[in-house]
Amino acid sequence: MRHLITIAFILLTINNLSAQNRTLVAYYSYTGNVRSIVDELKGLTNADIVEIQPAKEGERYEADNYAIGSALISAIRENPDKAESYPEIKPLSVDFGLYDNIIVATPLWWSNMAAPMQTFLFANGAEMAGKNIALIVSSASSGISSVVADAKRLISNGKFVGEPLWINNKNRSNMPTLLANWTKTLDFKSNMTEKLYITIGSVTLTATLAENTATQALVAALRESPITYSATDYGSFEKVGPLGRSLPTANEQTTTEPGDIVLYNGSQIVIFYGSNSWDYTRLGKIDNATQQELKAALGEGDCTITLSLSAGNNSENQNNNETPTGIRQSDRAATPDGPMYDLQGRRISAPVRGQIYIQGGEKKFKFSN
Ligand SMILES: Cc1cc2nc3c(=O)[nH]c(=O)nc-3n(C[C@H](O)[C@H](O)[C@H](O)COP(=O)(O)O)c2cc1C
Repeated sequence: MRHLITIAFILLTINNLSAQNRTLVAYYSYTGNVRSIVDELKGLTNADIVEIQPAKEGERYEADNYAIGSALISAIRENPDKAESYPEIKPLSVDFGLYDNIIVATPLWWSNMAAPMQTFLFANGAEMAGKNIALIVSSASSGISSVVADAKRLISNGKFVGEPLWINNKNRSNMPTLLANWTKTLDFKSNMTEKLYITIGSVTLTATLAENTATQALVAALRESPITYSATDYGSFEKVGPLGRSLPTANEQTTTEPGDIVLYNGSQIVIFYGSNSWDYTRLGKIDNATQQELKAALGEGDCTITLSLSAGNNSENQNNNETPTGIRQSDRAATPDGPMYDLQGRRISAPVRGQIYIQGGEKKFKFSN
């Protein structure tokens, strides 16, 4: 059966948030209370918004004295580490690499986080590591401490920001004011004010920058112009090359992982597709790419790499002028041959050899023409 997902998608600028400091609101609502909160939030924050929807339509969670809702929550409580404990939701494709901040807005069910939202966070919590996380919980009257605990369990490496906002039947009529005041208290200062775009041939990857004087200097240089350099394949674990300038160092003994980007000897930039231990200054990490994808993107042998602060500067695959976004309608079952997007979320007509692209909610790699 064909599932279509409705995604409200809005791109504007929040009062105190820059375009690089982007916010995603992920919400679930069964009876509409959380939806009203998110509708109100649209006018205040103008974030990108994604709605989580159960795969099974028309379920009545409150029927038979809340029997279905109760059973779903019990299953999660009994086996929180097993994927089978979580009810299926409609597929969604979100590029978390685009977001610094995530607001999770959820109902409370039997003191816990509503089951469909738990499914979404169980599947995606790891991708929210290091991001600023803020929580809005709507209940009739029950306190929200277990929902907060659920969020921290499911987004175990998130940076939880501020106090969760609790809307309940007593304060619901005052929700707009409470919400407006709450958004003002959110401290969404980010360690990821800029994304680094890395282009090798026709493939462009994004990376999240570390926060240090080396990356500040690199960003300042890239604001002037993109940097293109020749990288040598070294040790079957890295591509290393001269940046053409020195950056401030804060070297420390580091064991790198695939995707790590470091500064070596003050002026050499190293991108890892394997691992090595040495004294490096950390520059950042490539977003959401497996080791296999990294190897494919970087290719074998030496290569030419361009670094920049925007996708438009260096991609050879500029097929249109769509605004990049990580959220796309996904219809895994029905559209295996459906529209294709690059890793920045722009629609492409066809992938070129070596390109990683997204189709039908799946990340794919184009091996040959
Ligand atoms: C299955 C289920 C279980 C619920 N359990 C509780 C509860 O234990 N305590 C409570 O105060 N509210 C409970 N509620 C009420 C919801 O938390 C509340 O109505 C919330 O505002 C619903 O948000 P929504 O309209 O966006 O779905 C429950 C609702 C459902 C559907």
